[in-house]
Amino acid sequence: MRNYHVAVVGATGAVGNEMIRILEERRFPVGKLTLLASERSMGKELSFRGQTLPVDVLTENSFRGVEIGLFSPGGSVSEKYAPFAARAGCVVIDNTSVFRMVPEIPLVVPEVNPEAIALYKNRGIIANPNCSTIQMVVALKPIHDAVRIRRVVVSTYQAVSGTGKKAIEELSLQTRALLNCQEPVIKVYPHQIAFNCLPQIDVFLDNGYTKEEMKMVNETRKILNDPAISVTATTVRVPVFYGHSESVNIETEKKITADEVRKLLASAPGVKVVDNPSFKLYPLAIDAAGGNDTLVGRIREDESIPNGINMWVVADNIRKGAALNAVQIAEILIQKYL
Ligand code: A2P
Repeated sequence: MRNYHVAVVGATGAVGNEMIRILEERRFPVGKLTLLASERSMGKELSFRGQTLPVDVLTENSFRGVEIGLFSPGGSVSEKYAPFAARAGCVVIDNTSVFRMVPEIPLVVPEVNPEAIALYKNRGIIANPNCSTIQMVVALKPIHDAVRIRRVVVSTYQAVSGTGKKAIEELSLQTRALLNCQEPVIKVYPHQIAFNCLPQIDVFLDNGYTKEEMKMVNETRKILNDPAISVTATTVRVPVFYGHSESVNIETEKKITADEVRKLLASAPGVKVVDNPSFKLYPLAIDAAGGNDTLVGRIREDESIPNGINMWVVADNIRKGAALNAVQIAEILIQKYL
């Protein structure tokens, strides 16, 4: 197998850093690794496979000879630079939300719709879904295939790392300040995040939902390729560093028991069932953090409707929710298409 010239765009960020680590961990066949960030990172160096590599400043000409670009520099930056990369012949796997709902751009979770990767040829871009959506559809897909899901009601408990490095810092600084009886400094979020829960992720839209909530609705339909599936979401930021947790309630067309769901999910790719209440075993953010699996537990029938299931779904938002999913897409891309 040959090696590829890979670029990580936003290499100094929370997701970019993890992309570099995952390329290394999974022994992705990297011939050359180009690290790109803003002018603020000029002079910085990062390590990859024991070597120190310089971080270069992202420009329109950064992509000569680059074959795969893993992008996570923020929406406006991806919007501007991904087309330059694609024009230079680089396949962009973009972690921001700007291209996700563009009809001809594939939105991919490898465990769910790997066949959509073939559509990278349309624009040279593949979109990586929203972190909360990824872990939810990994758990939904086997159930949807078996008994068809009609409706999903999801509430999320999302870690601050999803917002980036500055938010990780904000939670630790506020926690430290409050434990030392000092005023917390609020910069990243609209309110104090330490010792609090914020029912706002991203901006509010005209319909009263936040942008994050509508991402879950629209992206789920696109990834499952089912415009008829109804989804309603409440997304909440909680004072957790790594790992998003979700309470997921589904209504299915055909009846499925909790045991049947457990069995289906036990053999589903990317899923680990952690569900033994008598031993107080259920998915925890601190257990998902640093791992690759989407953990599913608290699986039980919704007794308020004839065909309903409740479950608790947890994954590392920076890994499965972002960097790992992107590298998994790149793995299929080189196996099948490049
Ligand atoms: P930099 O560190 O130079 O600001 P996070 O999501 O953790 O905040 O990380 C965002 C990533 O995107 C960082 O690597 C950041 O680089 C990068 N980035 C932000 N703005 C730009 C830009 N205009 N050009 C290139 N990279 C950018």
